[in-house]
Amino acid sequence: MAKDYISLSDTRWKEFQEFQGLGLIPVHGDFSPAGVHYPPITNYQPLTQEEAYKDYAETVKGEFDVYVHIPFCHRRCLFCHYPSHYRCSDAEKDIYLTALEKEMQNWLAFHGLNRIKSRSILMGGGTPTDLSPSQLKRFLTFFCKYVDISKCPQFNYDVDPSTLVGEDGLERLRIIKDFKGDRLTIGVQSLNDDVLKKMNRSHNAAVAKEAISNCLRMGFNVNIEFIYGHPGETLQNWIDVIEEACTLEADEIQLYRLKIEPYGDQEGTIKKFSAYHNEELISVEDTIRMKEISNLILADHGYTENLRRVFTKSKKNISIYAYNQCCRLRDEVGFGISAFSSLNDRFLINTPDFEDYYKRVAKGYLAVNRGLLRSSEQQIRWSIILPLKNYFIDKALFKKINKVDIGSVFADKFELLKKYDFISETDKKIELTPKGAFYSDEIVHVFYENQHQSFPPEDFRTGCLNPYNQ
Ligand SMILES: C[S@@+](CC[C@H](N)C(=O)[O-])C[C@H]1O[C@@H](n2cnc3c(N)ncnc32)[C@H](O)[C@@H]1O
Ligand code: SF4
Repeated sequence: MAKDYISLSDTRWKEFQEFQGLGLIPVHGDFSPAGVHYPPITNYQPLTQEEAYKDYAETVKGEFDVYVHIPFCHRRCLFCHYPSHYRCSDAEKDIYLTALEKEMQNWLAFHGLNRIKSRSILMGGGTPTDLSPSQLKRFLTFFCKYVDISKCPQFNYDVDPSTLVGEDGLERLRIIKDFKGDRLTIGVQSLNDDVLKKMNRSHNAAVAKEAISNCLRMGFNVNIEFIYGHPGETLQNWIDVIEEACTLEADEIQLYRLKIEPYGDQEGTIKKFSAYHNEELISVEDTIRMKEISNLILADHGYTENLRRVFTKSKKNISIYAYNQCCRLRDEVGFGISAFSSLNDRFLINTPDFEDYYKRVAKGYLAVNRGLLRSSEQQIRWSIILPLKNYFIDKALFKKINKVDIGSVFADKFELLKKYDFISETDKKIELTPKGAFYSDEIVHVFYENQHQSFPPEDFRTGCLNPYNQ
């Protein structure tokens, strides 16, 4: 008999309400995705190139994880806040590629390097495969001139499935393979055609499955992404989607809770949609139940959450880019509009504006226009928040970065989190328990400075887990 996953999610929903009562979760139940940067990206101030690089010391000369932002898509998905442009001509994309090459040359000259030694690569966007096959080839040819990929252990692309089918799709996959790409993160989002329509995706479920099988057949490591809590979804159709996802033989399944408030350089259509179609929004209760239900189904199929919200059957498939940046706190450089760089004690972001980007790089400058240089106290918080949220805090790494033992900071907060069975500790590491992992976004807010909290104090009940208790 099939399991009754809806009833099985009752306990989690009760527990969620208890933690609202203790002040951990805001009364409205919304969340803020934490754990890629601290302080949050929305609080960054304008910076000149000189200010951005004041007193900068590279951690390991010439070695970086590399991100490239390709800001083009076929159409705008309802939920998406990522900066992109839609239905651009090949000529416009060519202009962008020319500027991208110039930005890379400027960056290398500024850093006194001939080439970057890549530790991992992520091509994101937008949709890198929105480039035509010949543009993709042109881009990868100059990219490999400036980035040494010979020892790169993982080369990943974030892609929309509609770009990986048909003659052009297969040609793109061959080009990606020729340039040593080995991993594809495919935005499937749902396997329900009505939901995909509501999302304004450029594919249906059949196209998504065809793209997955094309990639598997060509030997790529395949990561498929889904969103829960999106208009059109129900508890039952979410169960059906996740059960089907487990049959697709993907190496990883990655789950995102729908975020309605923007958190970067662009506001997605979902924000306006939410104002006019309130009745279509999924309740917090159903969203939390969906999260619990997918955790249960994935566990029943042998998937473990090896990196936060990414479920794999084997640890070897995790994203090295995410692991290096968020768990090992290594330096990462981003190219393209809105791309960010995480460099030692600072976080820098490129201009989001095409014209501004073109002007800056044509004059020989970098594209950075905002950022934040962390104080030593913020550095301590950053080196707790990112690894705790995503993987685990390595005590030796913490000491290497901050020159103090983790035991000497925030002892009362760590004790409190232990008391509620949110974290466990050994002599080498501190990590979230399975219960803590469910509330990872909320738990790490306990380590945020008050001025950087994601929601105002009045959104929380007074309680011992209230993130404003400093
Ligand atoms: C850069 S985006 C998309 C990559 C690719 N262009 C695609 O369409 O598949 C990376 C992922 O973030 C997730 N995402 C985007 N906007 C979101 C939102 N508002 N809430 C939750 N997840 C979101 C989606 O699952 C998406 O696949
Ligand atoms: S989800 Fe992907 S395809 Fe859709 S708008 Fe965002 S970046 Fe573009």
